[in-house]
Amino acid sequence: MKTYAGKVRALAGISFTVETGTIFGLLGPNGAGKSTTVKILTTLSRPDSGSAEVAGIDVLQQPDQVRRLIGYVSQKPQFDPEATARENLHLQGRLYGVPHRELRSRSQALLDHFGLGKVASRQARGYSGGMQRKLDVALGLIHRPKVLFLDEPTTGLDPEARASMWSEISRLAADEDVTILLTTHYLDEADQLASQLAIIDHGRLVAQGSPNDLKSELRGDAIQVELTQAGVDDHVRTTLVRLGGVREIVVEGTTVRARVDHGASAVPGVLAALESAGVAVTSVTISRPSLDDVYLRYAGRPFGDDSHHQAQASATTEMEVPGE
Ligand SMILES: Nc1ncnc2c1ncn2[C@@H]1O[C@H](COP(=O)(O)OP(=O)(O)OP(=O)(O)O)[C@@H](O)[C@H]1O
Ligand SMILES: [Mg+2]
Repeated sequence: MKTYAGKVRALAGISFTVETGTIFGLLGPNGAGKSTTVKILTTLSRPDSGSAEVAGIDVLQQPDQVRRLIGYVSQKPQFDPEATARENLHLQGRLYGVPHRELRSRSQALLDHFGLGKVASRQARGYSGGMQRKLDVALGLIHRPKVLFLDEPTTGLDPEARASMWSEISRLAADEDVTILLTTHYLDEADQLASQLAIIDHGRLVAQGSPNDLKSELRGDAIQVELTQAGVDDHVRTTLVRLGGVREIVVEGTTVRARVDHGASAVPGVLAALESAGVAVTSVTISRPSLDDVYLRYAGRPFGDDSHHQAQASATTEMEVPGE
């Protein structure tokens, strides 16, 4: 449990375990509590109650030991913009006590891995957003951490920079046996990288499993209907509810999403009902469940219904990362 300034309840019961050498994704909308979770696990913030272990070490009892084992890449840039990439890495390495003769080769290896070799002697302030983010991740790795925390490593990156960040993150887990906890807003990122993921919303864990587990939890097909005009939410919802068999209806602007048992047989009825209710439709698509649907169902604001959340008992914050 974590409450900021005595009033903002950021976390209200989260528990998960991450297996060594795997990538765990923490998904959730803005303000869900992702960064707060990461800050507690990296010893930067203390929970009001509950406990957490990283690499088998208690973050509250032995924070110094935890800090030596982990790398942390915060959501906000951490590098010194006045210094070059190489200088940043050397400084960080000295802070972490990396032996002098190892520091040069370690820095060079990281510069090469992240494609920063060519710009290593230029001030970091002049780097592109993607290069700056890569430098931040490289800084988190200088002391060869066993566990790496990445808070939104790819937010704001273009597709190419994201793809190269993804391959570097996968490589770290696969080849160097680094255990990685990453937070993200991107479903494709979680799907691509994480072997296990948790969706959090309003400081609570609302779903957990492998991307495939979560997808297969959803019954039936997703249908998406595009309307010609927005602002008819209630009208659309009432019409579809009356039809029966249409579940989890979400209206956002001109987009209506819902779930039905058999897409192909349900669509004609949906369209007819909307037409007779005077709602004009531009297109309709049917799809098998995707991680998007899982996310919408669990963390989509329309489902972030507080009465539902209150039904769950308030629990403590128990986090164990990873089981060694
Ligand atoms: N230092 C702070 N002081 C007060 N409230 C805070 C502080 N940090 C976070 N909060 C609040 O705690 C809640 C969770 O915030 P947190 O930063 O953990 O969310 P997040 O999931 O990381 O969101 P985002 O996707 O926007 O980064 C929010 O309501 C936020 O406003
Ligand atoms: Mg955050």
